[in-house]
Amino acid sequence: MPITKQLKYLISKNIKNRQTYLETGVFKGESINEILDLNFESVIGIECNSEYVKNLKNKFSKFKNVKIISGFSQILLEEILQKNIHCNCIYLDAHGHVSNNNIEKHSPLLSELKIIKKYYNKVDLIIIDDYKFIADNLTTGSTDSWIGKLNIEEIMAISKSIYGSETQCFEYKYFYRSFRKRMENSYLIIGKDLKFKTPHLYNFLNIFYIKFLKNIINKFLS
Ligand SMILES: C[S@@+](CC[C@H](N)C(=O)[O-])C[C@H]1O[C@@H](n2cnc3c(N)ncnc32)[C@H](O)[C@@H]1O
Repeated sequence: MPITKQLKYLISKNIKNRQTYLETGVFKGESINEILDLNFESVIGIECNSEYVKNLKNKFSKFKNVKIISGFSQILLEEILQKNIHCNCIYLDAHGHVSNNNIEKHSPLLSELKIIKKYYNKVDLIIIDDYKFIADNLTTGSTDSWIGKLNIEEIMAISKSIYGSETQCFEYKYFYRSFRKRMENSYLIIGKDLKFKTPHLYNFLNIFYIKFLKNIINKFLS
């Protein structure tokens, strides 16, 4: 799921000096498209699918501050962080789209977090997309996709330890699709000194609608 307007707003509130935004797993570049509004000096996307990379380079060719790098994030992320670079925001969204049997290569989240932990002082804000989707699927025992290669306890443990005792690590809900197909998902947000307001009433109404009203309305309308 691309970065929501609400998340974009919160990134803008939390990051004032915008040097580098880095995204792993870029697909069609919808999140990068959103992020361009925030005027980061540099925007880097890592994408392993060469066909997507070709399209992305084409799509962003006019933007001199956007760099699309072809390859696997579990290798390239470390190469980038080793350089003299400060990543204000890293959006971790590299998963799935598996075109061969090598599922493990398409589930790099734990490796990515371990790399970021090594270079934590060069990173201000880390956002993991699809957190609820991953956690729910692991709870129901889905083991035959990229999700099955993950371990939610390990993800949580490393996420909570990145900035030591100062680490803030919390789930931030979001809702998407139109009202008949409304869905819930979340980001896991990691950082320190973060100011993230939760829209409690909006969340409550959406969850209530998805759990109790959506099916009734769909039955009634079909
Ligand atoms: C959910 S899509 C990304 C959507 C995109 N971030 C957005 O918000 O518009 C996941 C992408 O991750 C890519 N991917 C999967 N495993 C990867 C890896 N190990 N390294 C880099 N990209 C990966 C897939 O090819 C796919 O394009």
